[in-house]
Amino acid sequence: MRRAAVLGTGSCLPERVLTNAELEQMVETSDEWITARTGIRSRRIAGPDEQNYQLATRAARRALEAAGVTADELGLIIVATISPHMLMPSCACFVQAELGAAKAFAFDLNAACSGFLYGLDVAAKYIVADPNMKVLVIGSETLSARVDWDDRNTCILFGDGAGACVVGGAEGRGIIDSCLLSDGSLWNLLYMDSPASTNPDLLDPKSKGCVIQMSGRDVFKYAVRAMEDVVRQLLERQQLAVQDISLIIPHQANIRILDNLAERLGAVPEQIFCNVNKYGNTSAASIPIALDEAVREGRLHRGGKLLLCSFGGGFTWGSMLLDW
Ligand code: ACO
Repeated sequence: MRRAAVLGTGSCLPERVLTNAELEQMVETSDEWITARTGIRSRRIAGPDEQNYQLATRAARRALEAAGVTADELGLIIVATISPHMLMPSCACFVQAELGAAKAFAFDLNAACSGFLYGLDVAAKYIVADPNMKVLVIGSETLSARVDWDDRNTCILFGDGAGACVVGGAEGRGIIDSCLLSDGSLWNLLYMDSPASTNPDLLDPKSKGCVIQMSGRDVFKYAVRAMEDVVRQLLERQQLAVQDISLIIPHQANIRILDNLAERLGAVPEQIFCNVNKYGNTSAASIPIALDEAVREGRLHRGGKLLLCSFGGGFTWGSMLLDW
């Protein structure tokens, strides 16, 4: 059976490493607090020649090379991001121009930390409609420009980076099923205003502007429950047990969310991929960066089942099952 499959992966992380020790000099916090509450030890911060679309393009080039696909073969480019280079044109259009992917149409997708999963699902649906189509799906963020560096509640959590996948038709492997959900009524627990907003709060001289605002405890509770629920829905639909899954790659928000999720699902630690200690929360980029690392570390084998799951602002959440 022909399905939409990941043909190649790539990622790109900025060079600059920001450690917890450096954060201790910036806000009232400690390495011990950050490590115990989040598992994060460092994150990457983009420099002047590491704009969102530049990280995205570098990740894309690596994914194209791994897939053995040329930019000219691409029919569609999707960039999942909440920190685009500009509001218009889209980051995806910048990437299209950089790659010289003349036959591709391109757009950005905003589903916060679930953006890459949503993008992969959109790609899969295009490929079902046109089995010869090749789609580039990228998750790319420069969140360091979108956090309030005086707010210790949020600035310790986030980092920059990009991950990419080339998706195309393949025989006997690929995306089996997915389950995507949203709940816009909970928007105010995690949000970031836009510079063009009509929000009167932004006119307040004390406003911090367009930075990430978060109710950490609430987000934690919803994230764990929602991801457990959406993974269970998918497993039930496919009549699988968690033990049938070779590798689970959850959105890398923080280690306590991942540990809680693993415990609730009854997964063993070896089943859960985790690199949040190195990169922090890179929102839409976290799953494709983790996927690329898992591939390069040899954690995925043909015939194994891969499960992706995410939760983010919106709220948005979802799960996806693949035959690798
Ligand atoms: N360093 C030291 N102390 C801190 C820091 C810090 N960086 N940040 C907060 N504190 C303090 C608080 O001010 C508070 O002090 P108080 O008791 O004197 O008021 C105390 O620590 C406890 O604060 P809480 O917010 O209750 O701490 P909590 O145990 O909930 O941990 C955290 C905070 C890590 C943010 C947690 O709520 C969490 O992980 N939430 C999930 C958030 C998340 O992952 N968001 C990412 C986007 S959504 C997603 O990707 C899924």
